[in-house]
Amino acid sequence: MQKPESYIYKEIEYELLPISDVTENDIQREINHLGEKILERTALFSRINGKESYISKLANNTPVVNMAKKKIKYFKQNRYIIGQGVHSIFPYQGKSKPWLVKFLLNSLGSFEKINVFDPMCGSGTTLIESILGGHNAYGTDISAFGQILSTIKLNALKGDKNDIVEFNKIISRYSSYEINPFKNINDMERLGESIPYDLFILTVINSIGYNKRRSKYHNSKFGEQLQFISQQTSNFLNCYYETRDKYNFNFGDFQVFKFDARKIIFKQNSMDLVVTSPPYLDTIDYPVRDNEILHFLNENPIGIRSQVIGTQGTLHNKIISFFQGMIKVAENISNVLKPDSKAIIIVGNYSISENKRVLLTHLTETAMIMSGFSLEKTRKFKLNGYNNFMETEIVQTYRLIE
Ligand SMILES: C[S@@+](CC[C@H](N)C(=O)[O-])C[C@H]1O[C@@H](n2cnc3c(N)ncnc32)[C@H](O)[C@@H]1O
Repeated sequence: MQKPESYIYKEIEYELLPISDVTENDIQREINHLGEKILERTALFSRINGKESYISKLANNTPVVNMAKKKIKYFKQNRYIIGQGVHSIFPYQGKSKPWLVKFLLNSLGSFEKINVFDPMCGSGTTLIESILGGHNAYGTDISAFGQILSTIKLNALKGDKNDIVEFNKIISRYSSYEINPFKNINDMERLGESIPYDLFILTVINSIGYNKRRSKYHNSKFGEQLQFISQQTSNFLNCYYETRDKYNFNFGDFQVFKFDARKIIFKQNSMDLVVTSPPYLDTIDYPVRDNEILHFLNENPIGIRSQVIGTQGTLHNKIISFFQGMIKVAENISNVLKPDSKAIIIVGNYSISENKRVLLTHLTETAMIMSGFSLEKTRKFKLNGYNNFMETEIVQTYRLIE
């Protein structure tokens, strides 16, 4: 479909955000479902009768500092698609697109508070969008890093500008340090005591491996790294708080655990919806990538790696491990979901070479069907990530058969 810049429906004028892959039907459904809440909830429109939507304002005001030039250009062009505000405070590779999750939640067409579950929550995109939409969010991730990152971002959603001031005061105490004085997380104050200190913990975690990840500041000292990172975090959060306060959000609650998605942690029939994205086979080897961070968090990366779905052995073994893992995840999901509820799985198909592909979607589909789900819909969305391995990601919508 050729997307119109501006769209008139029921005598109201709508301007679309720069997204591809949505249809006229999606546009009309979002208008009909969201009604009066459209300005704060829309995932598709930048303006409605001349008024700017929350998601557009947040993306447009998200400032960019301390990034490499190439990345700044990419981020400026794509910030609406890849992340804004709280979503951006840690660059988690493999993060779902916030607009897509918002769009999927909107497509349910109900404002009732529901329980949304993401068993492989990573950096918490599903959880953040769920509580912003007024729902309760429940997440697990095999990695303590996923749990900590999601929890800090979720707590920060409810903070304010004073938290940023306090956060910067803590940072300034360490600005002259040449090296990180904290050997591991036990040396720091407890997580969850306050938003400013949690943001400080996340900044320290981000500084681990920072020189390795950034070419621009490759010789920077600990104190300098804290300054770079905290400046970015403060900007993202300031922009989020300013934008948030102009709208009426009714936040839901959340719980995030370090737990295996193949095992059951929540009560039977307690969840209304699952939105999750399994690992992209071995395109991102999470425990290897986060090796130093996991050590800092007192975790054993090798132990975690052995439990990450689809990372063990040869490609053949990885595919088998992915399939076996997804069978267990599907069993878990079918156990906690209420009958007749939906599960949305965002899957990336993996290309080994130009003409060789691993269709993870087939494996996911078989695993879900074995656990009592029927596949209702499959949609393809372009990936606009930085340094992407895959071109498209596939969104599969299942229903749990009663
Ligand atoms: C593609 S990422 C999810 C990204 C997430 N949707 C986001 O927006 O940040 C896949 C996640 O699955 C997690 N994972 C892999 N195996 C797992 C398992 N057995 N149990 C729980 N989480 C697992 C990984 O640690 C990783 O964070």
